[in-house]
Amino acid sequence: MLSIREVSKTYGKRQVPAVDNLSLEIKEGEIFGFIGPNGAGKTTTIKMLTGILPPDKGSILIAGVDLVKNPVEAKRKIGYVPANPNIYERLTGMEYLEFIGDVYGVPYAERRERINKYMKMFEMEFSFNEQIRSYSHGMRQKLLITGALMHNPKVWILDEPLTGLDPRSSFLLKEQMKEHKKNGNTVFFSTHILEVAEKLCDRIGIIDKGRLVLIGTIEELKEKAQKNSSLEDVFMTITDQEG
Ligand SMILES: Nc1ncnc2c1ncn2[C@@H]1O[C@H](COP(=O)(O)OP(=O)(O)OP(=O)(O)O)[C@@H](O)[C@H]1O
Ligand SMILES: [Mg+2]
Repeated sequence: MLSIREVSKTYGKRQVPAVDNLSLEIKEGEIFGFIGPNGAGKTTTIKMLTGILPPDKGSILIAGVDLVKNPVEAKRKIGYVPANPNIYERLTGMEYLEFIGDVYGVPYAERRERINKYMKMFEMEFSFNEQIRSYSHGMRQKLLITGALMHNPKVWILDEPLTGLDPRSSFLLKEQMKEHKKNGNTVFFSTHILEVAEKLCDRIGIIDKGRLVLIGTIEELKEKAQKNSSLEDVFMTITDQEG
């Protein structure tokens, strides 16, 4: 569903690549967690996956469509929640969602249904007609989450989506991720919250210094790292060894 093949990216004149020859195959109906230290290359990978940054080399396929060769077709299959929810400050929440609906050509009835569902779920109805610049961090995030789901994407990509969400919203988002998977879609997200990765993900990839250092189910990860009892132990061992 999501293929990353030997992808590398170096920023500007830097010597060290931010992402170094990364290959990943994410299956249909899978929740995949991407974890790793600060600066490991998670956001850079996600920006390449969503077509924001072009890779220096390698290829990315979204449901079989090459992201570099057919960017529009590939991007139609993606819903993206960035780590930094700074968006169109002057639009109201409703205007933003209508705009997203227009961009993705979401039929009117479907649009209404999804807007109502998520805005009610996230208790955002009262902020609908206010400009986004008055929104708190968490409110912006909930709006972005709703926007990302407007066209019911095959692949839902989220960069540290739980940062700044209150406990209820955090719970609801995790439930939505499960529901998206249940409907046969794929979810790819980065997080620093290892408990969430452990509970939610079918498979986890650990990236360090731009390189994938470990990948597998939680059981496989623990087995590979030996003697370890928690994902935290695995993380500490793996990211330390690689240093
Ligand atoms: N716009 C940029 N220009 C130059 N270097 C960058 C840029 N963005 C990221 N980098 C560098 O690329 C590397 C990977 O950064 P990236 O943001 O992908 O890490 P990350 O895994 O998302 O980290 P975090 O957990 O802190 O979000 C880091 O060394 C960082 O300094
Ligand atoms: Mg990041």
